[in-house]
Amino acid sequence: REPLRLRYRGATVTTVPPPSAGGVALAQALGMLERFEAGDSRAPQYAHLVVEALRRAFEDRARYLGDPDFVEVPLARLTSAEYLAERARGIPAAAARGAAQAPAPAGEAARGNTTHFSIVDAEGNRVAATLSLNHLFGSGILAAGVLLNNEMDDFSLAPEHPDSYRLRGGAANAVAPGKRPLSSMTPAFVEDGKGVLVLGAPGGPRIVSQVLLAVLDYVHAPVADLEAILGAPRYHHQWWPDRVEVEPEGFSAEWRSALQAKGHRIEAAKRKWGNMQIVFESKRDGRAVTASDPRGADVGWY
Ligand code: DON
Repeated sequence: REPLRLRYRGATVTTVPPPSAGGVALAQALGMLERFEAGDSRAPQYAHLVVEALRRAFEDRARYLGDPDFVEVPLARLTSAEYLAERARGIPAAAARGAAQAPAPAGEAARGNTTHFSIVDAEGNRVAATLSLNHLFGSGILAAGVLLNNEMDDFSLAPEHPDSYRLRGGAANAVAPGKRPLSSMTPAFVEDGKGVLVLGAPGGPRIVSQVLLAVLDYVHAPVADLEAILGAPRYHHQWWPDRVEVEPEGFSAEWRSALQAKGHRIEAAKRKWGNMQIVFESKRDGRAVTASDPRGADVGWY
């Protein structure tokens, strides 16, 4: 399948097509955000726009996305400028539009196990590869030395049954023999006048918001500051549950109040999340530099 390629404020972003839903969400969120003036993605006013773009992208995922070998995914329409302009028109300047409310599922989301590699070689070849067993040690079954994953959780059992990441979905992502489940994996390349950024991360649905924030931070800044991109606190929205999840100690009381004043419910996660890996190849001097998430492998995804 062809990679998904899009333009965002002069940068070319290359990412994955379905059955990963991550690339589509990234393309949709960027397409919606391009309708607004670029801003600081950690400032409350702009964070509100990012959250609303994520909400709409995850809503479309739940409604339309599934394995394209099994279901008709309206990919061209979902990523078209006309459709995204229409979706962005509904982003209210002042107030959050809540997701349909449903009772929160009990219990903690399961811990995950996903790895991302970002690679650039001396000949300029690039790899952004995210590999997932889904939960910690996958299914916990070793077959002939190979650890089996438990990606079945990435299918939607029924609209009222969220998966372990609390993602909801429907018929398009229902289980069928030979079908591939949706994924949130969002390996990406971003190329602009500054250079080429190769990135990705683990984190279940929080992969999408991590990569989106990193792309916004990279494209909106005049120089590539990898430490700033990786070190900045993260927030996340996935349509349902209807809340902005924030990393602990990442956001001030004023920040939270500003988002709450716009109608958002804020929920502090117990731990920081993600383990993003970046390579940046500069167009100025041709040098490639690498940077790893300061949260480190121990923090994992949650
Ligand atoms: O493909 C997906 O969306 C999930 N299997 C990813 C799980 C994940 O990132 C857990 N990570 N540490």
